[in-house]
Amino acid sequence: MTSTHESPAPNPHATAEQVEAAMKDSKLAQVLYHDWEAESYDDKWSISYDQRCVDYARGRFDAAVPEEVQRELPYDRALELGCGTGFFLLNLIQAGVARRGSVTDLSPGMVKVATRNGQGLGLDIDGRVADAEGIPYEDNTFDLVVGHAVLHHIPDVELSLREVVRVLKPGGRFIFAGEPTTVGNRYARELSTLTWHAATNITKLPFLRDWRRPQTELDESSRAAALEAVVDLHTFDPADLERMATNAGAVEVRTASEEFTAAMLGWPVRTFEAAVPPGKLGWGWAKFAFGSWTSLSWVDANVWRRVVPKGWFYNVMVTGVKPGSAAEPAGT
Ligand SMILES: C[S@@+](CC[C@H](N)C(=O)[O-])C[C@H]1O[C@@H](n2cnc3c(N)ncnc32)[C@H](O)[C@@H]1O
Repeated sequence: MTSTHESPAPNPHATAEQVEAAMKDSKLAQVLYHDWEAESYDDKWSISYDQRCVDYARGRFDAAVPEEVQRELPYDRALELGCGTGFFLLNLIQAGVARRGSVTDLSPGMVKVATRNGQGLGLDIDGRVADAEGIPYEDNTFDLVVGHAVLHHIPDVELSLREVVRVLKPGGRFIFAGEPTTVGNRYARELSTLTWHAATNITKLPFLRDWRRPQTELDESSRAAALEAVVDLHTFDPADLERMATNAGAVEVRTASEEFTAAMLGWPVRTFEAAVPPGKLGWGWAKFAFGSWTSLSWVDANVWRRVVPKGWFYNVMVTGVKPGSAAEPAGT
């Protein structure tokens, strides 16, 4: 069963005045930027709802939560904040982490796509526009709250985590994954900027003209990047994230981090893909990119993790529990 709560309509074509206003209003920027991205987001980020992304989502869950929790799945009712197209929760439900869920986001366009994706998969979900700083659900409602790549967009992260603890049932758990670390974000951005300049300048050479995207499209990407700078509000040091979650009232708080050399490859690769015409690189490139990223992720997890500080990895995740004993234990 899938239902949609009454929500504002998506606005995928913002006017110049709205974009101007959004430069000074980060929440308006979130809505405009993500409404604009919603319909093409899955393609842009190679998001799917098949085994590849089911395994990826489950891998993030397992990397963050203790093993005894993994043995007692599924949770009954889950909530996703900043769901985007539903990548994390829809794939976690398919992976057996939760039975049913609510996908929420500040962007109506994203809620529409996430709800449609859930419907297409036949999952028991509903969708609703919601601000993570004021979650529109009663206290003690959910067994699990999840988010992926969302905390760094929220102005007051600790307020949002307090809201998460409020809507969780006692004993309920939250997990947020895919957040950029402060160190990781620095090298990822520098490598991406270098790649963008190199690719967009080299393709000015006459014999590489076929590899150059039309100037209007490159200009649009640059404008999008300007808005991206307004929506990306934070990077995190793992210890700060733990402190915020503890201040918000959570217990059993822990962080884990991943992607070191994999991020140093992944960000330039994604930037290069955006700089050249779509479809130009073909299947062989996609295979090479995914294969190399997977191999480097393995090296990061099995070699670099032993010697490199947690905060140097690109992604950090945080999990914690609402104090009290579970009203409805996971697995019942
Ligand atoms: C980087 S996207 C990630 C989407 C999805 N979780 C994923 O991993 O593919 C961040 C999402 O957070 C949403 N968002 C930003 N600020 C928010 C807020 N205050 N409350 C709820 N959602 C928010 C955006 O609209 C966007 O869909």
